[in-house]
Amino acid sequence: MRFKIPNLPLLSPKTLNPLTPNPHMASLLTAPEAQARNLHSDPTRDLDDVLCSDQHQQQEEQQKTFADTAPSRCLSGESRIERAWAHWSKLGRPKLIVAPMVDNSELPFRMLCRKYGADAAYTPMLHSRIFTESEKYRDQEFTTCKEDRPLFVQFCANDPEVLLEAAKRVEPYCDYVDINLGCPQRIARRGNYGAFLMDNLPLIKSLVENLVQNLHVPVSCKVRIFPDLQDTIKYAKMLEDAGCSLLAVHGRTRDEKDQKKVRANWDAIKAVKNSLRIPVLANGNIRHMDDVHDCLEATGADGVLSAESLLENPALFAGFRTAQWVPGNEESKKDGKLNQADLLVEYLKLCEQYPVPWRMIRAHVHKMLGEWFRIHPHIREDLNAQSILTFEFLYSIVDRLRELGAGIPLHLKETNAATICANGLAN
Ligand SMILES: Cc1cc2nc3c(=O)[nH]c(=O)nc-3n(C[C@H](O)[C@H](O)[C@H](O)COP(=O)(O)O)c2cc1C
Repeated sequence: MRFKIPNLPLLSPKTLNPLTPNPHMASLLTAPEAQARNLHSDPTRDLDDVLCSDQHQQQEEQQKTFADTAPSRCLSGESRIERAWAHWSKLGRPKLIVAPMVDNSELPFRMLCRKYGADAAYTPMLHSRIFTESEKYRDQEFTTCKEDRPLFVQFCANDPEVLLEAAKRVEPYCDYVDINLGCPQRIARRGNYGAFLMDNLPLIKSLVENLVQNLHVPVSCKVRIFPDLQDTIKYAKMLEDAGCSLLAVHGRTRDEKDQKKVRANWDAIKAVKNSLRIPVLANGNIRHMDDVHDCLEATGADGVLSAESLLENPALFAGFRTAQWVPGNEESKKDGKLNQADLLVEYLKLCEQYPVPWRMIRAHVHKMLGEWFRIHPHIREDLNAQSILTFEFLYSIVDRLRELGAGIPLHLKETNAATICANGLAN
């Protein structure tokens, strides 16, 4: 197993202000990050001078990856594409990725998924304006640690300068700053962000360009599709031209909110992948490893994101699946010697190590034990009656379920999973 519990403090923006690096954090920086900071903090050196001084120097820049270089404000489109791939390759070309989920893809959950096969993860969407204004919000909503990489930090925004200010705070601690262009909820309509920016493409362009020109890490975007395929392709190309280095495509439109009812459109994702030159990730309908294989094959995408199914089964990317996805007569069905209560206990231990708000923990308990609660609803009622949670109480819930013999195994099905490797094609 790849997971190691780090003996390091949490990195939260309070301690992570890139403009005033603290000495402890400096030791966590990679050499290129430290270089980038030095460059940044040296007022006598103009970034444009560094990047644009002569052709020879520019060629050298092109051979380096993002982390090694300053913002790409004067690179040609071609060089940006090369740089996007160099960065992706440097990260090991992650294929199995934890999607961004508000209140749900927080540090302990990401670490659990990483232990069980995830190659990379997104933070939950962070509100860029609140992130710049509130230390409390930053401390609660963004924590990370050295092992929490590769990491996409996602923001919603509608003001390029505010977004940049927020992104600057996290850039030393992530591999991409991601813009949420897909949230279809009413709150996003009211706040004018997420998928509602699809009505204002010039604003989206300026959000991307401003980050690309000023950040040391690459910029990625997560989008929904338009009802019309040509609109989707034009949109994706606009993002690539604006400097976006990686695009995650959720194959549903803004109006297709019910994910259980509407299948994601993998054909549209394939069309986007075929039209772009940067890495493209597919999102939608990844419920087990056969879906991963099928989706990579159908779309040609460079990786997949999974959200809802991971909440129920954080070991999905390690090949485990809930009974629902293994028909009873399946010969290859095997008890995986792991169940959701085991996973919950691991998650709770991670929460003790990496504290997060209780509302997030509560949400995960319901998701991971949902099937178990259907068999023993009185235990769910006890949980709901508990307005203040403690770890002791939550461990006792697991013990009670186990004593009741409600062991619902996760299954390991021999699948194509073994043929999907992080840095090669699915074969
Ligand atoms: C609880 C929850 C929270 C989510 N929060 C975000 C978010 O913060 N940012 C985002 O881009 N998408 C968010 N999504 C959407 C997912 O990232 C993903 O695009 C969507 O669920 C489709 O993937 P799936 O079919 O694997 O569930 C969220 C989804 C869920 C279920």
